[in-house]
Amino acid sequence: MIRRMLVASVLVVSATAAFAQSNPIAERQQLMKNLSQASRAPGTMLKGETAFDLQVVQASLKTYADVAAKAPALFVQGAGSGETAALPSVYAKKADFDAKWAQFGKDATAAQASIKDEASLKATLPGVLRACGACHEDYRAKK
Ligand code: HEC
Repeated sequence: MIRRMLVASVLVVSATAAFAQSNPIAERQQLMKNLSQASRAPGTMLKGETAFDLQVVQASLKTYADVAAKAPALFVQGAGSGETAALPSVYAKKADFDAKWAQFGKDATAAQASIKDEASLKATLPGVLRACGACHEDYRAKK
């Protein structure tokens, strides 16, 4: 089931890549949804609700690194159509915003090497995931 969800999210990524530059708002929001989806299974492992599964964790960390690499180019002020929750600060402080993505990508890549079992998952993943809330705090409109 989890594997099937991961495969599905890979398909979504390749499908959205086809209209990458035509609507950056839609594409970055889709990438963000992929981040949420990729966080679900490792999240239940962190809570001890499901057994540690290295393959699933590795796939999620790879999704994080891939999204981190793609996201900065999709935040283009005034480009795309639809509602966006990206705050003006994204563009006013683009270097800091991009640096946050770069750090998130680096942390995800480092975690791919360091997470090997449940103990290292618990020691490492929360630190990687702290980037989500930290960036949203500064750069995403609150609902
Ligand atoms: C460096 C900044 C940054 C990081 C890191 C980041 N986000 Fe976001 N996120 C944003 C911004 C900005 C938006 C608003 C995008 C928009 O509406 O155009 C957003 C939107 C979202 C959304 C709403 C998508 C939608 O449907 O509109 C979700 C869900 C989300 N992020 C989840 C995550 C998760 C989970 C992580 C970590 C694994 C994460 N984000 C990491 C900046 C970030």
